[in-house]
Amino acid sequence: MQKKKNKDTKKKKEIKHIAEKTKSIFDIKPRLKKSIRISPKSRICSGIPGLDPLIQGGYKEGSINLIEGGPGSGKTIFVTQFLLDGLRKGENVVYITFEVIKEKFYENMQMFGWDLEKYEREGLFTFLVYSPEQIKQILLEGGGTLDTLVHQKKIKRIAIDSITSFALLYANELAKKEAALTLFNVINSWDCTAILTAQDEGDSDRKEIVSTALDFEVDGIILLYHMRKGNKRRRGLEILKMRGTKVPNHVFNLILDKKGIRVKNETIKI
Ligand SMILES: Nc1ncnc2c1ncn2[C@@H]1O[C@H](COP(=O)(O)OP(=O)(O)OP(=O)(O)O)[C@@H](O)[C@H]1O
Ligand SMILES: [Mg+2]
Repeated sequence: MQKKKNKDTKKKKEIKHIAEKTKSIFDIKPRLKKSIRISPKSRICSGIPGLDPLIQGGYKEGSINLIEGGPGSGKTIFVTQFLLDGLRKGENVVYITFEVIKEKFYENMQMFGWDLEKYEREGLFTFLVYSPEQIKQILLEGGGTLDTLVHQKKIKRIAIDSITSFALLYANELAKKEAALTLFNVINSWDCTAILTAQDEGDSDRKEIVSTALDFEVDGIILLYHMRKGNKRRRGLEILKMRGTKVPNHVFNLILDKKGIRVKNETIKI
């Protein structure tokens, strides 16, 4: 009990330290939260058939995971399946975007038979569009209106699609890293598991990871490939890292069809 208290105090001090560090950039101190989860234990289903057995049953509860891929690699579908898994279990979830239009999103997901509008009507699904400037402001306020929503609705899963435009707000790597740290600390103070998407630049046939500030801060990274072999394209999935999880070191066959995304337990060459 005393040990846990000491750990909580230590974590609070760390957050305070980061808040003070980022103050120079943001000028406002992020609000400290009362409850801070230290060691997430349970696993949260990814919503992607075939993926959970590869990551010891799912994402760690309370973890922040990054899904990276080129244009059309399936990032939005991937995070939607994660949210849907929660919705079907009666959880409150939120989808945050900087560029996607709600009606188009609903229409695209309806193609897979996913009725997100229904979940919105039931109050379980929240779709939020922010300008990167607004999300910057939310961070300045240590969570602001988003913090209120997450607490009021007891949000369990959060998706940010995509984080790339947010990162572009900051001029250099250090500022990006500090902003990412603030964002992650805000998310960590909530009782939810998060997935962020990031766009790969250029060709999606990426074999080597280009390290960014975000890559080092997140708990897990999954890469989505959509690569060309001759005159055909194949889809693949690679788990680049997942803290506290034993992961395979292969690229797996990823299927995207009218049912959405699923992972086959067969490796492919890229
Ligand atoms: N039924 C289907 N069968 C095969 N592929 C499909 C099907 N429905 C959609 N797709 C493909 O899925 C891709 C879109 O996936 P998604 O929007 O998740 O990608 P994304 O990585 O988020 O793209 P962006 O970088 O544009 O945000 C489209 O390129 C489309 O071709
Ligand atoms: Mg997308």
